[in-house]
Amino acid sequence: TTVDTGSEDYALGGHPDFLAKEIAEQPDALRRALAGRLDTRFATARLGGLGMDPRELRGVRRVLFLGCGSAYYAGEIGAGLVEQLARIPAAAEPAGEFRHRNPVVDPDCLYVAVSQSGETADTLAAVQELRRKGGRVIGAVNVIGSAISRECGAGVFLHSGPEVSVASTKAVTTMSVSFAMLAVLLGRVRDLSVADGRRLLDGLAALPRHVEAVLAEDAAHGTVAAVAQRWAHASSMFFVGRTRCSPVAREGAQKLKEVSYCHAEAYPASELKHGPLALVTPDMPSVVVVPDDELLAKNVGTIEQIRARGGPVIAVTDAELPAGLADAVLRVPRTEPELAPILLGIPLQLLARHAAVALGRDVDRPRNLAKSVTVE
Ligand code: AGP
Repeated sequence: TTVDTGSEDYALGGHPDFLAKEIAEQPDALRRALAGRLDTRFATARLGGLGMDPRELRGVRRVLFLGCGSAYYAGEIGAGLVEQLARIPAAAEPAGEFRHRNPVVDPDCLYVAVSQSGETADTLAAVQELRRKGGRVIGAVNVIGSAISRECGAGVFLHSGPEVSVASTKAVTTMSVSFAMLAVLLGRVRDLSVADGRRLLDGLAALPRHVEAVLAEDAAHGTVAAVAQRWAHASSMFFVGRTRCSPVAREGAQKLKEVSYCHAEAYPASELKHGPLALVTPDMPSVVVVPDDELLAKNVGTIEQIRARGGPVIAVTDAELPAGLADAVLRVPRTEPELAPILLGIPLQLLARHAAVALGRDVDRPRNLAKSVTVE
């Protein structure tokens, strides 16, 4: 046991658990994911592993991201990016649903299989179904040599480094960043301007240091930890996001459930008044994701609606919010609006981990879950 403890300490590198370590590793993971892929000269992304020339990239009429759990939510972020930047219809679907519904395989659709481990049974089966039907499928995979990466034969590796904790963090962040690069690439063979391409490349290049700033703020002032301590004992929490930040809310709720066992439910902000508002009370905190974008006023309105019913609000934002608008504010640096979902996800990872620690959970090995689901 002495040897085991010693090697684990070494692997943890001084962090209290792998989840903490992997959250902290994100700036470096991002730097690796971006390395050599930002082509500032032509204001585009270089993703040679796709094996697609500009003609083929222009021939893509639709993009469908397929993955499970957090990989599926990252796919939703990817779909938003592709639609905004390349103006191609894009969506995400759980791979386990896709494989069982006898999908119509569209020859003009680019299918993207998303997986950290590259071994998830449902995602692998979706890829096999696609290949059987002649669909074009690329991988967005972390583990080189994994079953999904081999089956796809083309794609983008995430380069996030090994992920041990069951809850995925750095892999999810590098997935989103890879999809932002894919979206820029697809956009630049269409109508995305050189100026916008450059703006997004600069935004991507700045992300690692922005993530560093978010982590440093929490480490120095315990900002997220304080929020977790105040609300971790709630029996349930809402996570609310609008349009491009709706998947951020879904992933935030998933992370909290997974590691803290606190019940959490995510809603698109526009849906709140169609039912969920009935559950808002002083005992039901809402985490509202508020990017500094064209819908800022609408999101401020959402916060006001929740607070008018006595619900506590934790705002996660890169905007300057009116003083006293929310019960707590988790700030991240301002970034390009299209990239904000990537950065706004980081405080939600910290919130899940701090809540789990406050409740005395085993953060790296939550009950009933496996790191990679390789069986049916
Ligand atoms: C993430 O926190 C989860 N543990 C889980 O949803 C995971 O993302 C999912 O099982 C997919 O795994 P994969 O990325 O290895 O395919």
